[in-house]
Amino acid sequence: GIVVSSLLRETGMVTVDPGFMNTASCESEITYIDGDAGILRYRGYAIDQLAEKSSFLEVAYLLIHGELPSPSEHDAFVERVNRHTLVHEDFRTFMGTFPRDGHPMAVMASAINALSTFYPESLDPFDDETVELATVLLLAKSRTITSYLHRRRVGEPLLYPDYSRGYVEDFLRMTFAVPYMQYDSDPTVVDALDKLLILHADHEQNCSTSTVRVVGSSHANIYASVAAGINALSGPLHGGANESVLKMLTEIQGSGTTVQDFMSKVKNKEDGVRLMGFGHRVYKNYDPRAAIVKKSADAVLSTLGKRDELLDIAMELEDIALNDDYFIERKLYPNVDFYTGLIYKAMGFEPAMFTPLFALGRMPGWIAQWREMMKDPQTKIGRPRQIYTGATQRDYVDLSAR
Ligand code: ACO
Repeated sequence: GIVVSSLLRETGMVTVDPGFMNTASCESEITYIDGDAGILRYRGYAIDQLAEKSSFLEVAYLLIHGELPSPSEHDAFVERVNRHTLVHEDFRTFMGTFPRDGHPMAVMASAINALSTFYPESLDPFDDETVELATVLLLAKSRTITSYLHRRRVGEPLLYPDYSRGYVEDFLRMTFAVPYMQYDSDPTVVDALDKLLILHADHEQNCSTSTVRVVGSSHANIYASVAAGINALSGPLHGGANESVLKMLTEIQGSGTTVQDFMSKVKNKEDGVRLMGFGHRVYKNYDPRAAIVKKSADAVLSTLGKRDELLDIAMELEDIALNDDYFIERKLYPNVDFYTGLIYKAMGFEPAMFTPLFALGRMPGWIAQWREMMKDPQTKIGRPRQIYTGATQRDYVDLSAR
């Protein structure tokens, strides 16, 4: 049921809802989830149709503008994003000042935040053309930033874009090509990464998106809001789970313990161990994204000839979980993060890059939600209430008397 908040205000009542389990923070037309039925739709379109037939920038346009683009709108949008791919030389220098082995999520959040200093002409949140410019800048620069995150870690230079290639195809080239050498990415890999970015593109009021909205509700600029979202995403209970899953699988493989032993640890809640990549606040059924990712993992690994023992461990964990009362009673199923790391690894990304890839995919969702919020007449500054449980009034005691 829906409780109208104005009624609560009139009666002077305050609700306590840790983790916002039952509190809606806004109305939104962007993404629909039915967690019990395992349904996910962007602007009314089923996620499996979009993943199968669409492309990442087309989905970005759909999320942000509400409709699929016409062919001319599509081409103009892609061309405009392409045109903004290069970053200023000072920006590259700035990114180059972080320790090379510092976590790329921290560098990414800082880099996105810093865009406001490089593009001060794109900051007015109430001017439509300016917001559109910031939108294009974010989509374009985040791709360049993500590829440079990888290249700095491996000690290679940033590459110039090749506008004749698609967004994902050229992202892979800019990430993995060796300078002055011909690079052609495998179409299966391009297609799989395009799908993954689409699957991550929005997920209504998750932790990072809510963060973007709360920060933006103070009229902070879009870069500051999205950078805050990237920081929220970095946690292992949210986007950071994709990196944690691979760490967990690798530890199981190296520890000599059986998958069953590991599962007993999880069920006994020993040392707070959780089955990473399992469970979701909203999905109480198989995450529809995980079903698509699982199929894709199988396809990519066999096409690349990179059969990975970790995939067998993951499938064994899933098999046990789906037939075990602990997981059945709590309605815990694989979420989108359970299989993605295995695909990224096969593509050549190291684990620290997995969550930046999630952020690259989530960019259209953060932008769309920020824009919707700024236009919504119901928006108010995000400012939850609390129930105070501290000391009642007391008198100050001088330091010497304590
Ligand atoms: N492994 C083992 N037990 C779990 C797991 C898990 N992955 N997830 C939940 N549980 C158990 C909890 O211990 C709790 O059990 P209890 O009732 O005996 O106390 C019960 O299931 C409910 O869990 P909550 O933590 O209350 O559920 P909540 O909705 O708050 O958390 C979350 C959701 C954070 C995703 C959780 O399932 C989790 O920690 N999963 C692992 C991390 C992960 O994969 N995160 C990615 C989420 S998807 C995304 O961000 C894209």
